Amino acid sequence: MIGGKRILLIVSGGIAAYKSLELIRRLRERDAQVRCVLTAAGAQFVTPLSLAALSEDKVYQELFSLTDEAEMGHIELSRDADLLVVAPASADILAKMPHGQANDLASTALLATDKDVLVAPAMNVRMWHHPATQANLETLRQRGVHVVGPNEGAMACGEFGLGRMAEPAEILAAIENCLSPRGSLTGYRALVTSGPTYEPIDPVRYIANRSSGIQGHAIATALAAQGAETILVSGPTQLPDPPGVQVHHVQTAAEMNHACEASLPVDVAVCAAAVADWRVAATAEQKIKKGGKGPQSLTLTTNPDILHNLSHHPDRRPSLVVGFAAETERVVEQAVEKRARKGCDWILANDVSSGTGTFGGQENAVHFIRAADQESWPRMSKAQVAERLTQKIVAHFAPDTDSTPVTESAT
Ligand code: CTP
Repeated sequence: MIGGKRILLIVSGGIAAYKSLELIRRLRERDAQVRCVLTAAGAQFVTPLSLAALSEDKVYQELFSLTDEAEMGHIELSRDADLLVVAPASADILAKMPHGQANDLASTALLATDKDVLVAPAMNVRMWHHPATQANLETLRQRGVHVVGPNEGAMACGEFGLGRMAEPAEILAAIENCLSPRGSLTGYRALVTSGPTYEPIDPVRYIANRSSGIQGHAIATALAAQGAETILVSGPTQLPDPPGVQVHHVQTAAEMNHACEASLPVDVAVCAAAVADWRVAATAEQKIKKGGKGPQSLTLTTNPDILHNLSHHPDRRPSLVVGFAAETERVVEQAVEKRARKGCDWILANDVSSGTGTFGGQENAVHFIRAADQESWPRMSKAQVAERLTQKIVAHFAPDTDSTPVTESAT
């Protein structure tokens, strides 16, 4: 899969740059063509000569080099490759990328490319955990940049923690994954529900909840990235439609239920929407006026339970049905009971009490529950939860596939 592919390897500043020499060797062993861009900081750690000798190619360092531009312009450099790999990816280059800065050859190539980009972060543990770095990573992930590592361990600076660059073998596996022409879910159909529902009271008022849709949209993105033909049924959110996903926009639970039913058959359904449990029994056709009356009361009626309906579908039950359990107390206990009551195969339980920041936030801490086993996942970004769930789904449908998410940060 790697043989014959052209990799543009950007080596930025970090002690881990020595591991990039090993990476080049391994790529060359597999007949990949490697062309290196070395940043000024990177050149403090490895020499252009080592990179040139191992890659058997010229090493590019200057943005304003007349010779380099004459031989291969910086735009061509970034487009000529099949994949751009930044290893090590320093905190600095990871800060430049989300902002589109282009003040040296490496950042310019990254901005000019139309190819996939894989980054292997490497930095001090505190730099890694800094909210600025985490926000930059999240932006890059949302834009489809692949991330491998970092790993946990002892650091050159004497500290211990997350920040060590992934090992060359792990980066190689991630490169293989990025270059894989077929996702592991190619040929499968997936349905995802996302966001809140709006249940009208009258023409101007509605009942809703605080769901942002971030988790559901991230799951649809991750499934589509693995090649699944993905249908996203979304309530009203502020989010853009994920690329490569067929999106049905709905307002109410009844519309969401109808759109899901119309999407069947699918192989896997993931219900991440925060569907309103009730709707107003009789929506007023005109705006309800105060009219000098005291407090009004609303008569509610039960909404369809989409997860339950899909799980008990008489003839087109998806072979895998996954639900979420939003709980504020006894999270796992209630989720185990909810999985059985709803009839779904897996349930991801999350604590949505006030103060956890789960509803509307970028992060989630979930318990993954199946009939046979359960796991507690550490708090991570919703994009990472989506990737981890997708890898579980891949492993479910294709048990021979390596179920270890190679593009996920160690947690
Ligand atoms: N769900 C659904 N349709 C509904 C209500 C919920 O599909 N009408 C799905 C959600 O998408 C989620 C799961 O059911 O996957 C559990 O949602 P949750 O709000 O936690 O549970 P409820 O069913 O609403 O139960 P309760 O409010 O009693 O906890």
